[in-house]
Amino acid sequence: MKIAIIGAGYVGLTTAAALAYIGHDVIAVDNNEDKLTLLKKGRSTIYEFGIEQLLHNLKESLLFSNSISTAIQHAEIIIIAVGTPPDTSGNPDLANIKQVVSDIADSIQSGTKYTIVMKSTVPIGTNHFVKQTIMEKLADRGINSEINVISNPEFLRESLALNDTFYPYRIVIGSNDKNAIEPLICAYDPILKRSFTPPNFLPHPDGYTRPHLVVTDPVNAEMIKYASNCFLAMKISFINEIAGLCEKVGADIKQVSYGLGLDERIGDRFLEAGLGWGGSCLPKDTSALLSAAAKYNYSMPIIEAVREVNYRQRQNIIDKLQHNLSDLAGKRICILGLSFKPNTDDIRESAAIAIIRILAENKAIISVHDPVAMTNAQREITDIDVRYCDDPYDAVENADAVILAAEWDIYRKLDLNRLGEKMNNLLFVDGRNILDPHAAKAAGFTYIGVGR
Ligand code: NAD
Ligand code: UGA
Repeated sequence: MKIAIIGAGYVGLTTAAALAYIGHDVIAVDNNEDKLTLLKKGRSTIYEFGIEQLLHNLKESLLFSNSISTAIQHAEIIIIAVGTPPDTSGNPDLANIKQVVSDIADSIQSGTKYTIVMKSTVPIGTNHFVKQTIMEKLADRGINSEINVISNPEFLRESLALNDTFYPYRIVIGSNDKNAIEPLICAYDPILKRSFTPPNFLPHPDGYTRPHLVVTDPVNAEMIKYASNCFLAMKISFINEIAGLCEKVGADIKQVSYGLGLDERIGDRFLEAGLGWGGSCLPKDTSALLSAAAKYNYSMPIIEAVREVNYRQRQNIIDKLQHNLSDLAGKRICILGLSFKPNTDDIRESAAIAIIRILAENKAIISVHDPVAMTNAQREITDIDVRYCDDPYDAVENADAVILAAEWDIYRKLDLNRLGEKMNNLLFVDGRNILDPHAAKAAGFTYIGVGR
């Protein structure tokens, strides 16, 4: 099939690469010329396992363009995957969506038929708005075209984006017209039937069978997406709240999480206590759901608490640091891990960046290390003097404390004795509970974890 994807970021690029791999002709459109230059050279603009390899092998079936009108000319399906970041009040900013919808409506020719698929996470009712906007514009232009707008929220995780696209748990499709979804079902057919030959670097996961296909209406699809992210955020905040009490009563959250997660009704995933959730989605989607509820004068105290608990985790770590070092002014603090989680270069709403800002306000001297996210961090933190180091052992030089903020594998294998030799004061704040506290103590460190 011929597919145009608008927005070539984490979701758009991954989707484009996967759909091209399973046999479709894909054109991905982006309005960021720097990204396009790299993509056209076969280079990935995101740090994701396997993407660059796929891009390299898909030169014929995956093209890149800055022009929506060119891309949709021959497309049967148009997938919208532009960003929907929060505005200053926490409401989803739909400027990108509106722009794309307007560009699509301006480019549609008479006598054509399009399936427009909304993959961006959008507020409830947006699919309806998109359809209406396009139909009004086409009517103004005197254009007669068959347009279907379908909701198809995305559930991939960064760092596992290709895995989740080839082997999703579920594919959710929202439409008021069951016939309208056929082209999209057809596009996903090899994934739904698991009939494609897996890329050699990404075989079928053990035990994976096929995705569930959920066909529903657009409002339900939109709600499923928000409810999913809010539930995940709730699980993490729940375990973080329990972790706080563990510290008071002398329990170990690691053992509590383990025992708790063995109940299949609860499940053992997303029960890692630590600095809390960041990233481009859980923060914005919890906030978006509250905004949606506010419009109906409906209160959502659970989601409010989920956010409150999350953000206090960061301050809790600073409080623990202050408790140990008293005044942070002039103290050398090293942050290990800048991305919002390991195996991604994404620093959007990263706990590490928030902590760096608090440390800077307290006049601490900051050094950092991250395996891949330092370039993005340098772009983001332009107002703070930070020493960026390519080696974690250089980053801790003369430090009064180290804060581990993202659990990259490299940090699990740190030689604590070597680390300690470099530091001025042996304080290890383990924001992701990855070290064995006994090993840290044996290497001479004062160890501070979360809930243990
Ligand atoms: P992103 O910022 O990485 O990518 C969006 C891309 O769209 C950018 O490359 C940007 O340049 C491009 N763009 C913006 N406006 C454009 C326009 N007018 N024309 C052409 N291109 C334009 O965002 P993302 O992380 O891929 O997220 C996209 C959407 O998917 C969001 O709604 C997000 O909530 C949702 N989502 C994201 C993830 C994730 O893990 N990142 C997972 C599920 C859902
Ligand atoms: C999340 C969801 O997991 C995806 O299903 C969804 O598609 C995506 O948001 C989205 O809508 O964009 P992602 O943001 O990539 O994916 O990251 P997660 O793996 O969910 O992690 C989010 C945050 O929670 C990270 O900061 C991570 O460190 C933290 N986390 C995760 C914990 O603190 N504890 C845990 O047990 C798990």
